[in-house]
Amino acid sequence: MSLILPGYERPRGLHPPLASPAYKSTVLRAPSQPLVVLPQHLTEVTGPLLGEGRVKDSDADLTAQGAGEPLGQRIIVHGRVLDGDGRPVPDTLVEVWQANAAGRYHHSRDTWPAPLDPNFTGAGRVLTDSSGYYRFTTIRPGIYPWGNHHNAWRPAHIHFSLFGTAFTERLVTQMYFPGDPLFPYDPIFNSVLDPDARARMIATYDHDLTAPEISTGYRWDVVLGSTPVEAA
Ligand SMILES: [Fe+2]
Repeated sequence: MSLILPGYERPRGLHPPLASPAYKSTVLRAPSQPLVVLPQHLTEVTGPLLGEGRVKDSDADLTAQGAGEPLGQRIIVHGRVLDGDGRPVPDTLVEVWQANAAGRYHHSRDTWPAPLDPNFTGAGRVLTDSSGYYRFTTIRPGIYPWGNHHNAWRPAHIHFSLFGTAFTERLVTQMYFPGDPLFPYDPIFNSVLDPDARARMIATYDHDLTAPEISTGYRWDVVLGSTPVEAA
């Protein structure tokens, strides 16, 4: 008897085109040939198995990785990871990376003249709980210039990677902050053509989450759009 595996379809119409000319580097890296559709095997339809103890509670607090407090304003970012049918995705890996409060990444390729922070790497990870809930403590990232066009500055954002229940569900995206004046000028933000989908990349200020005299809070739920389908 052969093993029957589910397949996963990519959500249509919501993700940005692979080639978005206003976002210049996509012109070179986008495929110029039709995509080759690879068959989905057991590896593709299962999620990463991380093992006990690989992700520590402290990995979710980006303000506690150094010998001292990082500079900038503390924020809490929390939300739920849901599947395309609105069900929670438990025990799934959520990874984040971001610039520091001055808008600089802890990375050898980032050399613009903003200060590094010895107490801030900008990297964190957490597993969702049984209700798909995740929570980070971090620093609000600064904006940074990126040379794509004249006077190009990225809106403040946090990069997210979410695995879901299968490798084929993996979503790499960015979370933005409400009211950013740079939204109309950012070709990465605007490469998502659907205005409703763009709005879903913006977190909501969460006054109830705010810890008095410690930090403000933001809510950001993520729906992994791919839906399991029966194997062909
Ligand atoms: Fe970035």
